[in-house]
Amino acid sequence: MRIKSLLLSACLTLAPAPAAMAQSVIGSGVVPATAANSAERAIGFAETAPAGAALVVIMTDATLPPLDGVALTAAERQAVAAAATAAGFDGKAGSTLSLRGIGAHPRILLVGAGATPSSLALAEAGGKAAQELKSEAHPVTIAGAFGDISAADAAYGFAVGQYRFDRYKTVDKNTPPTGAVTLVGADPAAAETAFARRWKSLVDGVRLSRDLANEPANIIYPESFVARVREAFAGAPGVSIEVLDEAAMRKLGMGTLVGVGQGSPRGSRLLAVRYRGAGTSDAPIAFVGKGITFDSGGISLKPGNGMWNMKGDMSGAASVVGAALSLAKSRAPVHVVAVAALAENMPDGNAQRPGDITRTMSGKTIEMLNADAEGRLVLADANEYVAATYKPRAIVNIATLTGSIVGALDDQYAGLFARDEKLADALLAAGAASGEELWRMPLHKNYAEKLKSDIADIRNIAPGQGPGASLGAHAIGFFVDEATPWAHLDIAGVNQADKATPLVPKGMTGFGVRLLDQLARDSE
Ligand code: BES
Ligand code: ZN
Ligand code: MN
Repeated sequence: MRIKSLLLSACLTLAPAPAAMAQSVIGSGVVPATAANSAERAIGFAETAPAGAALVVIMTDATLPPLDGVALTAAERQAVAAAATAAGFDGKAGSTLSLRGIGAHPRILLVGAGATPSSLALAEAGGKAAQELKSEAHPVTIAGAFGDISAADAAYGFAVGQYRFDRYKTVDKNTPPTGAVTLVGADPAAAETAFARRWKSLVDGVRLSRDLANEPANIIYPESFVARVREAFAGAPGVSIEVLDEAAMRKLGMGTLVGVGQGSPRGSRLLAVRYRGAGTSDAPIAFVGKGITFDSGGISLKPGNGMWNMKGDMSGAASVVGAALSLAKSRAPVHVVAVAALAENMPDGNAQRPGDITRTMSGKTIEMLNADAEGRLVLADANEYVAATYKPRAIVNIATLTGSIVGALDDQYAGLFARDEKLADALLAAGAASGEELWRMPLHKNYAEKLKSDIADIRNIAPGQGPGASLGAHAIGFFVDEATPWAHLDIAGVNQADKATPLVPKGMTGFGVRLLDQLARDSE
């Protein structure tokens, strides 16, 4: 009886959505909506190198490969080889040597990929080249000791490595790159086909994810996130998009998701993008991303230092839609549904208070003891919704969930929590193949004891000490049926890069797009 009335009052605190705010409050206005990042180099494949381009040679050891199709005189070859020897260049993965003054070549850049390079190592060599040539004022040719299919790998690496988010800079702009990048090989048509079949759309997915996460919170909020995603998917085959606004979510009883956003004038949304490729199984894999477009901590306000970073607290949501875009645009034979749980976590007279109890659409109750542990709240409802609506055969959550995972794994791995061994293994394999690596973390059932609430089914934190990332994972898992294979990826340490690595320029990384794309392709 007591619980019942508590719940009733909790529901009543879910006040109606505030009247639509003036455009100046919620809209962009400040910056032109049309601002675009500087142009990327177009990717092409050819049998012979265009004249006047900077030349990149991907090397597997110290020896210069034959380089058919590249106009390099015997004397020039010798000069390059002599310089490589003098510099001790050995073709190790990640090594580079930049040479100028050889013949009429504006620049010759040697990039190491290591002996018998994997697809990933070749991509990383391509990415390294893109970053070294960020301000190169000439077109670029890439050649090397690789076959035509591998040229597509290198092209992919170049494409994700050249990403930049500079659309709001009007002074001190980096020199935009000039000209295209051409990969030279014996069978350019085969290379082009390999690139188009898989990598081109993956680049589109990564770019979408990075753009969404890099955008500040005055530009990307739940409603504008949805609009951007609709735009990105326009014309993509086999796609259906479903959006729930706050009224629809209230009607369904999604109290924990709506509760998180109720301190913000920007209405919450649940976005589901379903892509079904030809001939695929009925039950999709569900990717469910945390989409907090800004996490101030709510009434449990975060300290000011670094709070700006919380514009990226929707990185999980950005990555699930990026992966779906890649799969759809490449017409992959997979069936996925990407769900973004979108809300802005703000302090306000209408915000929920620590101690408030809300319930999810299935009727389970959560005692919210800290408004800054909001990711698990939005994911609780999103997971229940996707299970009820799409009957998925597996659910993978991806979320910037805890500071605790940053302390444990820093920027090297995302934390993997899983109740299903097969799903865990598939995710670990996809991580290794894509270069977005995971480290398995524990979900011991005894940890869950700490989340027991005296007055509700569960509380959202365990006051005092505890294994924070595991508790967060348990809190989410509480809302997923034990019979459904489920995993959760905590990407709080890897969604943002302080410094560039070959495939990931500084800034928001798009972590998860490549991984989930790989997982989906591996598991149909
Ligand atoms: N979005 C944060 C987690 C986060 C921290 C992401 C650092 C990226 C970098 C999350 O909502 C949060 O605030 N988590 C709290 C949970 C705590 C209150 C139990 C945290 O980790 O401190
Ligand atoms: Zn958060
Ligand atoms: Mn938080």
